[in-house]
Formats: sequence, C-alpha cells, structure tokens
Amino acid sequence: MSTSTSSNENAIATPVGITLERYIMRKQSEFPFATGELSQLLRDIALAGKIVNREINRAGLMDIAGSFGSQNIQGEQQQKLDVVANIRFIRALKNGGEACAILSEEDDEIIQTGNDKGRYVVAMDPMDGSSNIDVNVSIGTIFSIYRRVTPVGTPATKEDFLQGGRKQVAAGYILYGSSTMLVYTTGHGVACFTYENSLGEFFLSHSDIKIPQDGTIFSCNEGNWFDYPEWVQGYLTECKRKRFSGRYIGSLVADYHRNLLKGGIYLYPPTAKNTSGKLRLLYEGYPLAFVIEQAGGRAMAGTEAILDIVPIDCHQRTPLYIGSADMVEEMMSHATAAEPVGR
Ligand code: AHG
Ligand code: MN
Ligand code: MN
Repeated sequence: MSTSTSSNENAIATPVGITLERYIMRKQSEFPFATGELSQLLRDIALAGKIVNREINRAGLMDIAGSFGSQNIQGEQQQKLDVVANIRFIRALKNGGEACAILSEEDDEIIQTGNDKGRYVVAMDPMDGSSNIDVNVSIGTIFSIYRRVTPVGTPATKEDFLQGGRKQVAAGYILYGSSTMLVYTTGHGVACFTYENSLGEFFLSHSDIKIPQDGTIFSCNEGNWFDYPEWVQGYLTECKRKRFSGRYIGSLVADYHRNLLKGGIYLYPPTAKNTSGKLRLLYEGYPLAFVIEQAGGRAMAGTEAILDIVPIDCHQRTPLYIGSADMVEEMMSHATAAEPVGR
C-alpha cells in the first residue's frame, strides 16, 4: 500500500492505537521467562476497572451514591461505592486465579482468594477519594502487586504483603475522571491507557511518562495548616511567595495524576488528627511512589524515601511528599535537624 493511500486512509479513519491487551502481550514477550501470570493479573485489574467505571457512571441514577452506614478498618465511613468497588475487584481477582490473597483498605484482615497456587498478592485501595463520590468529582483505584514469599500451595500470610515497597513487581492506578485512565508500571517505565467507552477497551495514550523535573503546583489540604510542622509551613510559604498554584481535589489519585503530567508536589504531612499522616503506606504510598520513581520523580515520608520504609502493619499510615524531583528536594531542604521530620 502506498504512503499516500495510507495517509488518506488515516485521514478518514483515525487509527485507534494499541490496546492494553496487546501492550501487555508485547511487554510479556520482552521477558524470556515470563509465564503470563502477571499479564493475566493486570488484565483482571483492568476488567474490574471497567466494571467499576460502569458503576460510577451510573451512580447518579442508581442507589449507589452515599454512605453505606458502616465503618472500615480505618474507622472511616464506608460509602456504597467503596463497598461496590471492593466487591468488584475482589471478585475479579478471585476469578482470575493469579492472586492468592488481597489486602484491601476496606477489610481488616487479608482476604484469601482460594487460589493458593497463585504466585501473586495484591494490595489495593479499591476506591480512593471517597469524599468526592457524591459530587461527581474524579476518584480512583490504587493497586500494588508482589510475588508471594510464602510457599505456593499454602494460604498467603501478612508476610507476603509486608515485603517493602522496593519488592513491588507492578503497581498503578485507575482514575475515573473526565476520561477513565489506567496507569501502571512493572519497573520498566510508566504507561497510561485511556478507556474508550464505545469499544470497551483501554488504549495506550501516554507511553513512557516522565514527570517534569520541576513544577509550580502544590497540592495539600491547607485546612490543616496549623497542624503542619514548621518546616512544611516554611516550604509552602516559599511556594506562595513564588506565586505557585495551589490545586487540591481531595482525591489522591486525581491530584497525583495532574502533578505527574504537569509537574508539581502533593503533600500530606502528619496532623493532630493523624499523627503518622493520613495516607496508607501499602496501598497508597508504595504504589504511587513506585510509579513516580519510574517516571523520574521522588516520594518521601520525611527524611526517608517511601519505598525504603520497612513496613510493620498492613494498614499503617505514612506522611507523603511526592512529585517532581526538584520540588521534593527543595521541600526536604526545609526539614531541619532542629525539628526532626515526623513519620
Ligand atoms: P480514601 O477515600 O481512600 O479514604 O482516601 C482519601 C484520601 C486521599 O484520596 C485524599 O488525598 C485525602 O484522603 C484527602 O484527605 P483530606 O480530606 O483530609 O484532605
Ligand atoms: Mn485512598
Ligand atoms: Mn479508599
């Protein structure tokens, strides 16, 4: 076919690009000993994401917005969509067969999938940004995948989840926003896929994402200002002097995604209410830190990199300072020895 014919063709029928399915297959073939299990796991997560996306789009019409009337392990009100998303992801992972256990923000104990032969475990925040569910603002799902350390064929234990952030084999998130996007890494760069509703497929939209080295956006809940450590206030004051933009949605995934593409810093320091920070290390901190480092950014908990924190509890919390490398570095330069950085 001549070039001119194919460019004519493209003009009247724009190519739709590479599907997530094909991308995963391609990547798998780049690893000589890959067995396809991780690929299948990523497909299962994408499938659950499509289903949750459908539920979210109908939330205004169905009785699934609002509070469920119960609390999760964190003592927080569960929204109905928190519960719906949790069920959908657990079901998809159980049916898929590759994950032997799941750690969810919504469940106190780890969940055995019944697939003891599965080689992977998945930690997840099935619905991030719950406070935005009822008001039609972007929300997300965050996931983190490890190869189990307990013997295949036996039930998984907490040990499988408490390996530390550097042991993640894949991590990412789904953002249910003006478009629905799936962003993930397996440790070889970061790729983003946008969901095409009418075709029911995720298509590659951003390959090898790199976060801008520096940025001019800071994202935090300034309502907590008087609880912030002085060094954090000092850094934010400097941002304001430089007339940086304050942008805060209140859905971590959405704030993070904007900063990933545009350059910026997201921060959630310790507060009087949450003295160790509010965000959860295993299914918010670690996965987003893995993605940001793969994108050339940085993620700190204070003086320590998020990925270097040795975990002690499945639901533990952490302060989080994450985003463009230069901004995070500048912020850390405000952490003085006189006031040790809280964790
Ligand atoms: P979740 O909805 O999973 O509990 O997470 C909420 C988190 C995060 O998404 C967001 O950035 C942060 O809480 C907002 O907290 P504040 O309302 O305290 O700012
Ligand atoms: Mn969350
Ligand atoms: Mn959540």
